[in-house]
Amino acid sequence: MKRGLTITIDGPAGSGKSTIAKLVARRLNYLYIDTGAMYRAVTWKALQEKIDLKDEEVLVRLAQRTEILLKKAGDGLEVYVDGQNVTGEIRLPQVTNNVFYLARLAGVRERMVKLQREMGEEGGVVVEGRDIGTVVFPRADYKFYLDASLQERTRRRFEELRSQGHKVELNEIGEEIKARDGEDKGRRIAPLKIAEGAIVIDSTEMRIEEEVSAILKYIREN
Ligand code: DC
Repeated sequence: MKRGLTITIDGPAGSGKSTIAKLVARRLNYLYIDTGAMYRAVTWKALQEKIDLKDEEVLVRLAQRTEILLKKAGDGLEVYVDGQNVTGEIRLPQVTNNVFYLARLAGVRERMVKLQREMGEEGGVVVEGRDIGTVVFPRADYKFYLDASLQERTRRRFEELRSQGHKVELNEIGEEIKARDGEDKGRRIAPLKIAEGAIVIDSTEMRIEEEVSAILKYIREN
């Protein structure tokens, strides 16, 4: 018996997926799964081990031998790599800027998709990422695609980093998000795109609570 529905939320960097997915999961008492954290986790380990990020074979083997654990902690998640808590470290710019080396490799994605399916197979999950509705759970009960203008996504990311005490420039953040959009949408394997049957939500002018309500309302009524 399934524990509940499978809900997927995809979208570009800074679209507010994590915030929204976490809140929807809380309201439904479902498990929240952050798949970006998994790609970040392997990237973190590759950097620790000073692996050549252009060496596909070594990276794929690394992904296969890395144990990744997402552990529920309050409303969020703690991320463990081989037993070590890396929750904070995987958000550092050095990781963010190098994830694409791993995210573009078929062998790495294959391993991540397998783990994600294992975590979500019983349902009762809100899974967030880039390829969740297209590749990981194409038969999900509900699929959403969150988007917002580049300008708004840049502003949100800027505010978030500033509130965490980072010294950042608005235009640098904008360039970084644009580059990540290019990598996510342009990669050959599992590119970011709107999944068949997905509901598109443009959150540029929406408040967080409005987005969460819109998603829950859609689920209730359909
Ligand atoms: O959502 P995020 O910014 O934490 O994701 C980090 C990176 O991981 C993102 O730049 C693209 C990649 N990613 C992916 O390729 N597929 C996913 N399902 C989730 C993230």
